[in-house]
Amino acid sequence: MARITVPEIKSRKVSKGDPPVVMLTAYDAPGARIADSGGVDIILIGDSMATTVLGQPDTIHVTMEQMATHVAAVATTKPDALVVADMPWLSYHLGNADTVRNAAKLIRAGAEAVKLEGGRSRFECVEALISAEIPVMGHLGLTPQSINHFGGYKVQARDDDAAKLLIDDAKGLALAGCFAVVLEAVPGKVAAEVTQDIAIPTIGIGAGVHCDGQVLVFHDLLGFSDRVPKFVRKYANLADDAIKGVSAWAADVRAGTFPSDEESYH
Ligand code: KIV
Repeated sequence: MARITVPEIKSRKVSKGDPPVVMLTAYDAPGARIADSGGVDIILIGDSMATTVLGQPDTIHVTMEQMATHVAAVATTKPDALVVADMPWLSYHLGNADTVRNAAKLIRAGAEAVKLEGGRSRFECVEALISAEIPVMGHLGLTPQSINHFGGYKVQARDDDAAKLLIDDAKGLALAGCFAVVLEAVPGKVAAEVTQDIAIPTIGIGAGVHCDGQVLVFHDLLGFSDRVPKFVRKYANLADDAIKGVSAWAADVRAGTFPSDEESYH
């Protein structure tokens, strides 16, 4: 597969007959190799790493330094997929200079673009990043860094006023120069309207089938997560398989049947 680039993703629209964008999170080298071998278009080092990998209660609990370390781990695998890094909470809230400096750390670590959450309050910082040659993916709807503001993980843009605000935010992000926008946990009808109204691809997660692409979290898709939202489809049960493997090895050690003669040096 040829390397996927930002301009290629930016021009993808299902309405033009293009294939949907497939984006999956990954947080380390083995995960990135699996995602890339599975043929995804984009690997997202999501701040969901806070909950999936670092055992934290929400995505607010991940730092720039942790993100940069994991971006570097993914980038070492040199995937064909585009490498996009989430900007963690408070890395783009304290002014444009701070935002660009933080995004540059993720780019230097190996990301080719960054993703950040929010609508009209972010237009200016998206423009600042783009003028620093850093491509930006937007993220609207249920933006998990605003969990305390929302009071829980709730479907967004359910009423007409909120849907109109979201649609206007998506248009604004496109105008500010974003190359794609994630729509999380919004009614399918609203996501369909956004998808029709903007020229950049929408990538849905819990946003129905009418987006220009879909994204899921690696650990949810592959069955490592205990509890998953309604919009997740599990394609494997790797946690169960892993537990079976570990307990079979532990039993062999206890029975004295591991290692065998062939598994020993002579
Ligand atoms: O952090 C993440 O994994 C994300 C995706 C769910 C879009 O932002």
